[in-house]
Amino acid sequence: MDTDTFIQLRDWFTAYAKLFRDAEGRLHPMQELKLAHSLRVAHNARLIAAGLAWEPQQVALAEIVGLLHDTGRFSQFAEFGTFNDAESVNHAERSCAVLEAERPLDCLPERERTVVLQAIRLHNRRELPVELAPDIRPFAELIRDADKLDIFHVFDDAIRNNKLDRHPEISMRSNSRGAPNPVMLEALACRGTVPYSAIQSLADFLLLQLLWMYDINHLSALRLVLERNVIRSLEQHLPATPEVTAAVRAAEAFVHGRIAAGTPKA
Ligand SMILES: [Fe+2]
Repeated sequence: MDTDTFIQLRDWFTAYAKLFRDAEGRLHPMQELKLAHSLRVAHNARLIAAGLAWEPQQVALAEIVGLLHDTGRFSQFAEFGTFNDAESVNHAERSCAVLEAERPLDCLPERERTVVLQAIRLHNRRELPVELAPDIRPFAELIRDADKLDIFHVFDDAIRNNKLDRHPEISMRSNSRGAPNPVMLEALACRGTVPYSAIQSLADFLLLQLLWMYDINHLSALRLVLERNVIRSLEQHLPATPEVTAAVRAAEAFVHGRIAAGTPKA
């Protein structure tokens, strides 16, 4: 892969996204958001891979996975008017289907193409499969981290700038101002997982993001979480009840502890 490959793919991707413009030449704001998200996730992926001291070739591949992971979001939204996979299609599968049909990845060697497609296919699974080829796993883990890092940003920006009422899709329509679902606090206490059905309010979505602190794979991604003050931003938007504050402090201590110890994800 030469250094121009990413630029070539970025040009393909932005041109593909523009196919979804309306008669006035505008993308729907939600598709515009996904375009900007994809470019930022590519950047996050590059930062995480570089922070792990990966070879330049691997860093470039990580950036490509980040760029293309949500390719399927454009046709998903055009067809179904939602980003809710349960009500439409699995958007990761859709990303792979578009990439397989349009063939922008033909510029990559076959194995690298497989790595990119597999990492994309798995990026929205609740958990990664236990059995995964050793050359795919690091990329599958990395895209999940890079994606989460940008979701923190998108959500924080949406709350600060009052975008959630206008665009409830950003929070999967869970933008009610209700109290946290106790299920979320229980999951945080035992570092468990929750079904998406547990996310009913804005607070629940914020607590889900707090739960992700236990689910970040790569240490360099966790360092970015600290650098960007993610936990403090989440705390600012959450109700300051004793239970929530305890969960925030615990997550913070966990992140600091893992970075200090340099330990891989448990
Ligand atoms: Fe996605």
